[in-house]
Amino acid sequence: MKTVHLIGIGPGDPEMVTVQAINTMKTVDVFFLLEKAGRGKESLLAVRRDILERYAGERPYRVVTAASPQRNRENPNYAEGVIEWRDERLTIIGDLIANELTEGQVGAFLVWGDPSLYDGMIESLSLLQRQGRQDFDFTVIPGITSVQVLTARHRIPLNRIAETITITTGRLLEDVAPADVTNAVVMLDSRQAFRRFAETGHEVYWGALLGSPDERLIAGPVAEVADAIEGELEAVRAQNGWVMDTYILRKP
Ligand SMILES: C[S@@+](CC[C@H](N)C(=O)[O-])C[C@H]1O[C@@H](n2cnc3c(N)ncnc32)[C@H](O)[C@@H]1O
Repeated sequence: MKTVHLIGIGPGDPEMVTVQAINTMKTVDVFFLLEKAGRGKESLLAVRRDILERYAGERPYRVVTAASPQRNRENPNYAEGVIEWRDERLTIIGDLIANELTEGQVGAFLVWGDPSLYDGMIESLSLLQRQGRQDFDFTVIPGITSVQVLTARHRIPLNRIAETITITTGRLLEDVAPADVTNAVVMLDSRQAFRRFAETGHEVYWGALLGSPDERLIAGPVAEVADAIEGELEAVRAQNGWVMDTYILRKP
């Protein structure tokens, strides 16, 4: 039997890698790195390589990189585009496990943040097994999420007393009436969905590139800070080619 570990590595700061993740890395024969295309995306790979250099230990290991497919943004049907992308990725992941690991070996994917939060790897490996691939078993090593770094930086609890917390995406937030949102974490937002929350008096706790030396933080009423957030988003995009940001919207 082959073993595959999905190791959560935190959101970019090597000091946020857990002891369990480090101890697991030291048992790995082959690390699989999926390369995303796009300007500046090589820095995501650089973080993973840095983590390996720091923590993977003296035991010999191989690093195998593969190009990660991109979602076809031309497809007007979002759900269909995501399924196509997922299937392509599934084939690549399945081939890596089949061709790059021998019987009894241990492989690992270094997963950004925590593998359970808006990441497809757990689903991909489960799906491969449901499709009949019985040659590997897998484990999940939890990691610190970008959401935890966001709340730590702003020194706020994730939920207020006896209050629900919702985790959603910029796309899904567009279908919700702002007045119905009391406390929501918003991820994967490429459309500044927070802007609709200016008139309802919501506050925003925003962070970009959390855990990196270029980390940006802004907090305040949406009506007052929305332009400043947009300015930071533009500045980071101009500098890096991409930006990852997460925020909490809260009714006062
Ligand atoms: C595909 S999801 C992966 C989330 C990841 N599994 C986690 O636990 O944080 C990517 C989204 O996570 C958020 N994110 C991840 N890393 C971040 C960071 N360093 N700073 C701010 N947001 C981040 C952004 O909302 C981004 O669009």
